[in-house]
Amino acid sequence: MEVVIGLLLMLLRVSHGVETYCDGRQDGAQCYGALGGTVVLQLMDSASEISKYRLLKNNTTAILSGIKNKIVSNLIADRSSFTPSNGTFRINNLSRTDGGEYTLEIFDSDGNSLKQRTLQLIIQAPVSSVLLVSECLSQGEMRVSCSSEGGDSPQYSWTLDGHTLTDTQLLSGNNETNNITLKQDVSGQLTCSVKNHVSTVSKTKTISTCGFIFIDCISNGTHISKWVLKASNTLCIEPTTTSTMTTSTMTPEDRSLLICGVRAAVVILILIGIAVYFAWKKKKYEKAEDSSVRRKMEDQENSVMMVEMRSSAYEL
Ligand SMILES: *[C@@H]1O[C@H](CO)[C@@H](O)[C@H](O)[C@H]1NC(C)=O
Ligand SMILES: *[C@@H]1O[C@H](CO)[C@@H](O)[C@H](O)[C@H]1NC(C)=O
Ligand SMILES: *[C@@H]1O[C@H](CO)[C@@H](O)[C@H](O)[C@H]1NC(C)=O
Ligand SMILES: *[C@@H]1O[C@H](CO)[C@@H](O)[C@H](O)[C@H]1NC(C)=O
Ligand SMILES: *[C@@H]1O[C@H](CO)[C@@H](O)[C@H](O)[C@H]1NC(C)=O
Ligand SMILES: *[C@@H]1O[C@H](CO)[C@@H](O)[C@H](O)[C@H]1NC(C)=O
Ligand SMILES: *[C@@H]1O[C@H](CO)[C@@H](O)[C@H](O)[C@H]1NC(C)=O
Repeated sequence: MEVVIGLLLMLLRVSHGVETYCDGRQDGAQCYGALGGTVVLQLMDSASEISKYRLLKNNTTAILSGIKNKIVSNLIADRSSFTPSNGTFRINNLSRTDGGEYTLEIFDSDGNSLKQRTLQLIIQAPVSSVLLVSECLSQGEMRVSCSSEGGDSPQYSWTLDGHTLTDTQLLSGNNETNNITLKQDVSGQLTCSVKNHVSTVSKTKTISTCGFIFIDCISNGTHISKWVLKASNTLCIEPTTTSTMTTSTMTPEDRSLLICGVRAAVVILILIGIAVYFAWKKKKYEKAEDSSVRRKMEDQENSVMMVEMRSSAYEL
């Protein structure tokens, strides 16, 4: 259901441009409209009780004026509509020249100015598309650039597998720059989102590492500690002992995986041990119950023997 509604909204946006809403009832409101789209400005609660009102642009041009429910003039009537009953002014097919300062003046029945408030309308072109390009650098780092088309004042943000990129994954850049460099061991679903006040567009790409491994070993008397391309690596691969072999060819990720595996194995072994112990104990208990009758008989035999012994001792 939500998917269907989402698709319908997308279709609406595509066919009629982006629609934004702005509450202009507070003085100094900042409103954003999409180039070619529609903005709905809430100028007041209702015009029904207002003797006279006027909307000026840049303190000079009277765009709209009215008396209670009657609209006296609308300079852009061909692409806008004012609804006095709920105080909304809807402007379609926005162009750059619609941007500017709008002042609403309210008068009493004698024509005295009662109050006035202003709002800023800022027109932005929506972001139309996002391009995500990645490349491997010489040390196995990955440079990713995110570029957008069309949008005014684009703001960038990044996520990896749904989580904001952190400094531990980044070699350069941050989660708000358009070009970033990722560390050698970073992989997953990378998403770049570009947004401004009238649109958000994002692009996701599955990235794998550049195939580098971290080498940390002593070879021919020198300590080697660096990232190398795994496929063509010749450093530290001749095994002197098996332990140096395992540590030298492991990336930090592999190592933590191995530690996890060992821990899991230990826990499983302990659990199996406990289970076996209890199974054995239970069996023993059942056997004990089972044999209690037999034991009683044995006990009787014993007591007979004892009696016999006692009697024989008595005889002595
Ligand atoms: C409109 O006039 C007010 C004061 O009357 C002034 O503060 C404001 O800057 C003016 N706006 C423009 C766009 O000229
Ligand atoms: C105001 O009225 C118009 C016309 O009836 C309607 O399209 C719009 O949704 C209403 N807006 C609000 C905020 O109630
Ligand atoms: C929107 O405005 C532009 C110029 O600002 C005009 O060329 C175009 O025909 C208008 N579109 C509609 C649907 O009114
Ligand atoms: C209003 O002022 C803004 C800048 O303050 C300007 O970009 C715009 O063209 C002006 N509009 C008119 C109709 O004078
Ligand atoms: C970027 O990261 C900082 C701190 O890590 C965080 O405060 C900020 O909200 C993030 N920005 C985005 C757009 O996710
Ligand atoms: C980001 O990278 C692109 C392409 O590599 C380049 O054109 C652009 O200038 C870079 N932007 C910044 C802010 O460094
Ligand atoms: C070992 O190191 C020495 C000097 O550092 C060098 O001359 C020699 O060729 C190296 N041997 C190998 C097998 O790399």
